[in-house]
Amino acid sequence: MEVENRIKTLREALEQHNYNYYVLSAPTISDFEFDRMMRELQELEAAHPELADPDSPTRRVGSDLSRAFEQVVHKYPMLSLGNTYSEEEVRDFYTRVARDLNEPFEIVAELKYDGTSISLTYEGGRLIRAVTRGDGTRGDDVTANVKTIRSVPLRLWGSGFPAAFEVRGEILLPWAEFDRLNREREEQEEPLFANPRNAASGTLKQQSPAVVAARKLDAYFYYLLGEELPAETHYDNLEAARAWGFKIPGVIRLCRSLEEIYDYIAYWDVERKNLPVATDGIVLKVNSLRQQRHLGFTAKSPRWAIAYKFQAERAATRLNSVSFQVGRTGAVTPVANLEPVLLAGTTVKRASLHNADIIEGLDLHLGDRVYVEKGGEIIPKIVGVDIEARGLLAGDKVRFVRSCPECGTPLVRLEGEAAHYCPNESGCPPQIKGRIVHFVTRKAMNINIGPETVEDLYDAGYVKDAADLYTLTVADLSRLERWAEKSARNLMASLEESRQVPFERVLYALGIRFVGETVAKRLAAAFHSIEALAQASPADLVAVDEIGERIAQSVSRYFSDEKNRTLVSRLKEQGLRMAVSEERLADRSERLKGLTIVISGTFARHSRDEYKAMIERHGGKNSGSVSGKTDYILAGENMGPAKLEKAARLGVRIIHEEEFLNLIAE
Ligand code: IVH
Repeated sequence: MEVENRIKTLREALEQHNYNYYVLSAPTISDFEFDRMMRELQELEAAHPELADPDSPTRRVGSDLSRAFEQVVHKYPMLSLGNTYSEEEVRDFYTRVARDLNEPFEIVAELKYDGTSISLTYEGGRLIRAVTRGDGTRGDDVTANVKTIRSVPLRLWGSGFPAAFEVRGEILLPWAEFDRLNREREEQEEPLFANPRNAASGTLKQQSPAVVAARKLDAYFYYLLGEELPAETHYDNLEAARAWGFKIPGVIRLCRSLEEIYDYIAYWDVERKNLPVATDGIVLKVNSLRQQRHLGFTAKSPRWAIAYKFQAERAATRLNSVSFQVGRTGAVTPVANLEPVLLAGTTVKRASLHNADIIEGLDLHLGDRVYVEKGGEIIPKIVGVDIEARGLLAGDKVRFVRSCPECGTPLVRLEGEAAHYCPNESGCPPQIKGRIVHFVTRKAMNINIGPETVEDLYDAGYVKDAADLYTLTVADLSRLERWAEKSARNLMASLEESRQVPFERVLYALGIRFVGETVAKRLAAAFHSIEALAQASPADLVAVDEIGERIAQSVSRYFSDEKNRTLVSRLKEQGLRMAVSEERLADRSERLKGLTIVISGTFARHSRDEYKAMIERHGGKNSGSVSGKTDYILAGENMGPAKLEKAARLGVRIIHEEEFLNLIAE
């Protein structure tokens, strides 16, 4: 009974804190405190399976069950909205509504969120199903994935909600998460997401809820449907839904005239750039549900609502050529070379074409007049072609290359992937050079040479792989142009130092596909030596925390290749660390597991770098800036006032050297 009560208390408290953090953005406890409660609940639930609850906050982290999505028919079809692009069209909508109603009315103005739409069904106050839009009539059941989104209430608050209803909204990937995700993908040479919308819908269709949970989606709601809604107006229904725990944007406005609508549009056209999520317009809805029923629907959209789309920043220019770049992993990226054009304050010369499907979809021809847009995208993209301007002198149709532009090997496309790859890993120059460049980077072996030098060494025939670097001599280098003896000696010293680089970084330096810094650390911590790692089966690999099928396959594949094994043993002969050192093994722990720590100021007992290393050795994570995710700030002397202020505002705990050392001591 006592356990049952404790579990109940913890569940309620954690849901409240989830809401404070994810819906209100106003946490009242530290993340550390939150995690402690979460861990306690996890442990209690594990020890008492009979008290399990599918709606427990612990379920939000996502299980790793993989299953295809089931199709569900929407009870109310998911319609789209008519689009308008100008004030005149908005006025047309307004006057049409006024004429058809022939009585006073109000319009609710909202932002149009640019994510992927979702329909949630609640029964008895519990989330029972989450379905994507699909074709509007039927969609995919993505309930398990949606349950990982912290701002989606699994259980509603209060008692005023109908026994059964649907709520519709938008699943969004906030800009900050989108940027982080793309940086990560860039590092792994995986195709980038073009915009947060694609990233959100791609994430929602992930087979593993654990992956979804890690991506930090958010959800905003804007439409309630059901037989017994609490109010007779859209606005009041949303207010009620807010009280049940839904994240209803605070920026909705009741407008009583066209001028108020125009003001809203003008204000948000500028101000939206400061929002954490992408928006692409305004939605206008007749407030009264009675009036909505009166106006009704067309086959595709309601007559009582309309979207006004913001002008994307767009320019027209000429497509001069398309080049295909080969990266270190062999991924081939198509890039459009454009006649330079001014767009949103910068000159655009190139645009990403992403992959073969995009090129095919655009039906691009060389010399075409193309439209380039810089919506929320990081890299400008081609959104359309002016077919009429093509004329008789049209250039050749752009086709994705079939063979590698660098080495001529036929390209391959892996099942289920959008990207093409050059499979000639050991003979394709940009791949070889790219791997060496990656090997020497600061986060890998930290060897003091730049990409041009690697290029020179490769072209001169001195270096064909990373191990060749270690057999270079000062005499070799002096035969190269631009090499003073001093820089040759510097390189020698830097190579010598790299022999002390810890195993996890050597592993990262190898450039195994999908093995970034974090994964390398995990693998090193789990297997301790390159031999153990090379012998691990895919099953052994996936047994490691956060190592999925894809990484496991890639690691197995790497070590099954004779050439890679030879490279590794040559590097080992050169004295590189291929195992976690004894001392490190001895003082490792998981005492800081799951904690994110920011180091700030100067210290007396150890250097900042030493503290960073300690945090990682004990399973913690270093972060450069204070955010809602920070558990602790390890503060020395002279901590910056901005950080202090932010820490105070977010309620992050500050600890000092001694306290930290106690924390990691036995
Ligand atoms: S109302 C029947 N409100 O825009 C009306 N939609 O083209 C249902 N959207 O599929 C939609 N923000 O994904 C509505 N504040 C908002 C919205 C919104 C974004 C999306 C939604 C819908 C599409 C309509």
